[in-house]
Amino acid sequence: MTKVITYGTYDLFHEGHYRLLKRAKELGDYLIVGITTEKYDLERGKLNVVDSLITRVENVKKTGFADEIIIEEASGQKVSDVQKYHVDIFAIGSDWIGQFDYMNDYCKVVYLERTKNISSTMLREQNKKIQKIGIIGTGRIADRFVPEAKLVSGVNTQAVYNPHFESAKRFAEKWEIEVYKETEEFYESVDAVYIASPHQTHYGYVKDALEHGKHVLCEKPMALKREEAEELFACAKERGLVLFEGIKTAYCPGFEKLIGIACSGMIGSIRYIDACFTKLEDETKRELTDLRYGGSFTELGSYCLLPVIKLFGTDYSDLRFDVIRGENGLDIFTKASLTFSRGIATATCGLGVKSEGRLLIAGTKGYIIVEAPWWKTTYFEVHYENPGQVDKYSERFLGEGLRYEIRDFLNMINGSDKSEFKLKRSSSIAMAGIMEKFLETEGRYAFGGKE
Ligand code: CTP
Repeated sequence: MTKVITYGTYDLFHEGHYRLLKRAKELGDYLIVGITTEKYDLERGKLNVVDSLITRVENVKKTGFADEIIIEEASGQKVSDVQKYHVDIFAIGSDWIGQFDYMNDYCKVVYLERTKNISSTMLREQNKKIQKIGIIGTGRIADRFVPEAKLVSGVNTQAVYNPHFESAKRFAEKWEIEVYKETEEFYESVDAVYIASPHQTHYGYVKDALEHGKHVLCEKPMALKREEAEELFACAKERGLVLFEGIKTAYCPGFEKLIGIACSGMIGSIRYIDACFTKLEDETKRELTDLRYGGSFTELGSYCLLPVIKLFGTDYSDLRFDVIRGENGLDIFTKASLTFSRGIATATCGLGVKSEGRLLIAGTKGYIIVEAPWWKTTYFEVHYENPGQVDKYSERFLGEGLRYEIRDFLNMINGSDKSEFKLKRSSSIAMAGIMEKFLETEGRYAFGGKE
């Protein structure tokens, strides 16, 4: 009996897939089809797969060509599959020519001619309208956003707005996008808006963008008052629009894995979380000179609160801030201590004091440790009472990591709301409430959050 194996994602199953499977089956008597997992596709940079693994398996099954379906979970699996299943022929489309020649050491390799003018990528783009994104604000993060958005198919950075027109013009020239002096024209030219302006302007811009019928991805902290966050989410819901708070950590695969393991019971019940993020900043920068909205906590607090809120929830019974201030009175180091019924947590941020910047999650059976930069999670360890037992996990974090939140934002716009669990609306609202309490205790509330 001649056994043939072939692999693919088989997203939005199309004629090219059908013809490939048919010819692969004809090469022998028994066809094994390897189908990629979502996680593996993510790892190899295929960020926009639409169909779930189950749907893709079902579609391959329906052709009747596959005698056996297996799951491809990692690179390097093909060699062991060929041996494990005693495969004679490895077949793949001609778009891969040359790339699997190394498999000739284990079986015969056949490249089958690819069907012209069809691909999952093409279908994904046809099915969905390209979302035109406009950027508000032209700071460092906006500069990172544009190249990251280019890596997500289905979005196009279209335009920029900044009340300082000269900055907007420079930004537009650099990235070859449109620039508008008036917000009305700017909103008219886009479907969705990415807000990367100073913190205190977020609320106003989010509201304005929603009222113009645009989906919004807003940099953290989205709001500095609980009531504002509630109002913005209600406004988005009422209009059927997507509103996303852009805390990049929440959407990156490593952090998702970390949360999954923390919740799995491997370290028992979680009792203590200590999240720290420090970044020494130039004293002349806005972050350390804006006496109303600057300082370490408004700048970095969202990152440190994220694992706390995700793992302990939003119902804290006590919240206290310990602060070290710089000469101008602004917090350069802040420790927020929270008490929950299940445990306690600290969220520590520094812009003028350097600390180790790690994330520790301690439970009744063990603890998880992630060194800096844990907010771009790539590696973490699980430790137990026995110091010799350590489980190690790694995951990719590509580029600046904004591509993950852009992908999820796009998926939500396109009707899949499965990404909401990564950062729930209730979590964003709770974080805005904590920001509000912080500004209040700092005596900055007197200036008023809502402007
Ligand atoms: N294939 C083919 N003809 C096409 C498209 C795909 O023969 N027009 C083959 C591929 O070469 C591969 C298998 O089908 O052997 C599964 O390919 P997959 O990557 O799932 O499909 P694509 O349409 O190429 O997907 P994408 O656009 O996401 O890369």
